[in-house]
Amino acid sequence: MFLWNGRLVQENEIQVSYLDRGYYFGDGIYEVFRIYNGRLFEEQAHLSRLFKSLREIRITLPWSESELSGMLNSLADTFGEKDGILYLQITRGAAKRSHLFPASAEPVMLGYCEEVARPVEQLKQGITAITLDDERWNKCHIKSLNLLANTLARQEAEDAGAQEAILIRDGRVTECTASNVMIVKKGVILTHPNGPLILDGITKQVVERLAKQSGIPYRTTGFTLEELMEADEVFVTSTTKEVMPVTMINGIKVCSGIPGVITQLLQQGFEQKIGLSAVPKATELLG
Ligand code: PDD
Repeated sequence: MFLWNGRLVQENEIQVSYLDRGYYFGDGIYEVFRIYNGRLFEEQAHLSRLFKSLREIRITLPWSESELSGMLNSLADTFGEKDGILYLQITRGAAKRSHLFPASAEPVMLGYCEEVARPVEQLKQGITAITLDDERWNKCHIKSLNLLANTLARQEAEDAGAQEAILIRDGRVTECTASNVMIVKKGVILTHPNGPLILDGITKQVVERLAKQSGIPYRTTGFTLEELMEADEVFVTSTTKEVMPVTMINGIKVCSGIPGVITQLLQQGFEQKIGLSAVPKATELLG
């Protein structure tokens, strides 16, 4: 089933107008919710960020947060007890093409669930990344549909045989094309501060809480490209990648080239939260 402007419908009932401003201008926002065993993970945090994105681009929905939550849970119920994602996007609506906001357009909302398996092998082995200039705009805290710079960078990573691109702005690491990035140096986790240059990832928020619970120092002072290349551990976080070790950057191993112990401790804490397990236990690693 699909969520289409507040109603659960079959795919053939969806009719997107050629005048939709999402199509012309990328004039809209989106969210990706994780579903574990049929249940929405960190639903409230995603909903809050969705409404924040809507306020930032001045779209007003005819539904409250709790009404939307009801719809999303009904949609998730039709999906069954599987692992996947719920993709939701809202555009400003359909109107004759003009850069100005239309006087009367209604927001257009589309949501659907899709089966997505946990990337178990990558979570154990880690992924490789390249670094690229961050060529995005200055409002990356909005989960906007405008993802051209992200898709170009992601494709460049793919073409270089890597799974993610770590983005650098003025010598400092911001985030990745579709994930946040953290390093560990001398037992301290470092990541970019929230603000207009990054998306405040929900998985990043979970990791911050896990680090605090485990007594691992967590600092949002950011770090440079040099610090990235000299880090003891590097990992990225996102709704689909979870806590993902990065073991090679620009063809150079991160430390010894295997997932680090703090990364694995965080993975273990994350798995406890979601009630699923695949990665090795950190206690086993510590021996
Ligand atoms: N991407 N930064 C960017 C630019 C992102 O696109 C994402 C998520 C994140 C991590 O946010 P979260 O932990 O809330 O997923 C950080 C989603 C998954 C996507 O676009 O598919």
